[in-house]
Amino acid sequence: MTSKAGKVYIVTGGGTGIGRATVLQLVSEGASVTVVGRRLEPLDSVVTEAASSGGDVLAVQGDVRDPATAHTAVERTLERFGGIDGLVSSAAGNFVSPAEKLSDNGWKAVVDIVLNGTWYFVSAVARELIRTERPGAIVSIVATYAWTGHPGTVHSAAAKAGVVTMTRTLAAEWARYGIRVNCLAPGPTETEGAGAALWATQGQRESVLASVPMRRFASPEEIADLASLMLSDRTSYVTGEVLTADGGQSLGRQIYGEAVAPSAGRAGSRDA
Ligand code: HXC
Repeated sequence: MTSKAGKVYIVTGGGTGIGRATVLQLVSEGASVTVVGRRLEPLDSVVTEAASSGGDVLAVQGDVRDPATAHTAVERTLERFGGIDGLVSSAAGNFVSPAEKLSDNGWKAVVDIVLNGTWYFVSAVARELIRTERPGAIVSIVATYAWTGHPGTVHSAAAKAGVVTMTRTLAAEWARYGIRVNCLAPGPTETEGAGAALWATQGQRESVLASVPMRRFASPEEIADLASLMLSDRTSYVTGEVLTADGGQSLGRQIYGEAVAPSAGRAGSRDA
């Protein structure tokens, strides 16, 4: 594993789920991290957990839908850590709704968080990198339905598609500044937020699992590990890419019979 000693990152949505695991992963590799989220309690909890292993995490409370949150996070990061090397944009909002029943405000809430919030942070961090002529890396968490589409999540799918296209555009524009811009597309990941929003009942949970050839959820830690990889020099020639880590979920559906269906249990387990 490459050391991130001396590196400084901002992680949005870092109080919970994949964002939280990413903060702890980066800290475990020696980085300092500013964590951004709406609720103070999860932020305090991640600060405390990081501190217990000697990690330095700064909490900035705010809503990613407000561009001022991004500017404040950058300013406070510079004051506390003296520079910035990159960003993981992990803040998300989602719920399942038939498109025809989705209110305009429901559409707006999700698009504001996912697309606009990502832009506010990506642009604020990149402007700072460009100003200080410092190379950097940006990773935004998306989902494979950004290109497959998915019934019930039109707001999130459209917003994530915007993030993917934004990423590819910025990767080409900002390569000249030494800024790499990529996406990471996890499949169903065992987090409280996604569970509550997308597979709240046992039936929904089983149906999600049935759609994954590996027949398991991702852990937040294994996705965080990939976010860290995408920030590292081990991917120094990778930009404008989407790394998919979905246990094969987006590859297709079982059509030709049980003979080729993966068995239940530990298929694809990390430890297998
Ligand atoms: C229908 C809903 C709804 C629901 C909210 N709304 N939840 N409509 N079904 N379940 C509507 C509200 O009625 C309102 O519209 C509008 O959305 C805004 O809702 P608010 O609660 O006022 O907004 P806010 O408090 O800002 O909440 C934003 C949110 C919320 C997105 C709706 O769920 C949130 O903050 N979530 C953050 C955490 C989260 O969702 N994490 C999951 C990410 S998982 P009206 O018209 O009534 O005013 C993920 C994984 C994807 O993204 C990949 C999977 C493979």
